[in-house]
Amino acid sequence: STTEEQLILEAYQWLAKLYHHLLYHTKDGKKGLEYLHQRGFSDDAIEKFQIGFSPQSRDFIVKFLEKKGYHRQLMVKAGFLTTNDQINYFDRFRGRIIFPIRNAIGKTVGFGGRSIDNQEPKYLNSPESELFQKSKLLYNFDNARSEIRKRNEVILLEGYADVLALYQAGVMNAVASLGTSFTDSHANILRRYVETVVICFDGDTAGQNATYKTLKLLKKVGCNVKIAMLPNGYDPDQYIQEFGAEAFRHTILDTSASEMTFLISHLKKNYNLNQEGDRLRYVENIISEIALLDSSIKRDHYLRELSEQFSLSYEALQQDLAVKMQNSK
Ligand code: CTP
Ligand code: MN
Ligand code: MN
Ligand code: MN
Ligand code: MN
Repeated sequence: STTEEQLILEAYQWLAKLYHHLLYHTKDGKKGLEYLHQRGFSDDAIEKFQIGFSPQSRDFIVKFLEKKGYHRQLMVKAGFLTTNDQINYFDRFRGRIIFPIRNAIGKTVGFGGRSIDNQEPKYLNSPESELFQKSKLLYNFDNARSEIRKRNEVILLEGYADVLALYQAGVMNAVASLGTSFTDSHANILRRYVETVVICFDGDTAGQNATYKTLKLLKKVGCNVKIAMLPNGYDPDQYIQEFGAEAFRHTILDTSASEMTFLISHLKKNYNLNQEGDRLRYVENIISEIALLDSSIKRDHYLRELSEQFSLSYEALQQDLAVKMQNSK
């Protein structure tokens, strides 16, 4: 017998196909397609990610699903219909670009809907359910999995558009957490496939703070972490659209910073280094981070750097580090 979950999966598959078709073959969809093309997304990428468009009509999708034999209550449960009065049902994603979100085995389990007319929220996602758990899903993981394994490296991005942009730039081992914060579950999934994670979040304060938290989670599960930093105000997609794929690969990816280089610059923001007290507290903070490094060669390297940069005695820093390492045992 067919379980409810199977029905929902099947409906998601139908709907993803329909949305994709509507993007190319309707007047409403044309607006969406123009929007995507204007942003530099190619038909190849649109096809690959099965991007679609949901028309403004309130009942088009409802009728389609009913014709397929699906009950409204199930479709509400699946998350693509909503109702205010239990009488009129309408499409949650109407008027939006549709990004199908697939699980690790390639089944569509959710949608991300982007507004194209500045309507808030910018993105609307399927509601959380047994099938759609943002804390465990990584966008594009199903496509990228083999390349991730082959390279023993994954590029971690923030958003759908960033994944598409990297795909067009020929970078096939990229995934995105769905805007929600990166979780322990995400870290554990990635650790099963790779040693190295390159975090490439947006070049804004939110992105940098998320980088710090994500770095910590990934270290906890034993990943080697690198940070690809973008100029202020750019995300990977914007950077690639403006400067091109070559520049992104050579200027951003190939010059990824080590975790310490990132921390040294990131943690500075919390201190006023012109003041002696703050300067010393900052040095203490960095030494705590150095204490967490897994190799004595690395620890020594950054300790020397710190000693030179702040004209502090190397021996004193060493003693401090020894105490911190003792305490963290
Ligand atoms: N996101 C979300 N809901 C929002 C805003 C963001 O779910 N209201 C998620 C989306 O998955 C989005 C990601 O967080 O892709 C990153 O957010 P942001 O950087 O704001 O969006 P972009 O991916 O840059 O989106 P776009 O380029 O389309 O503006
Ligand atoms: Mn098609
Ligand atoms: Mn962002
Ligand atoms: Mn962004
Ligand atoms: Mn963007």
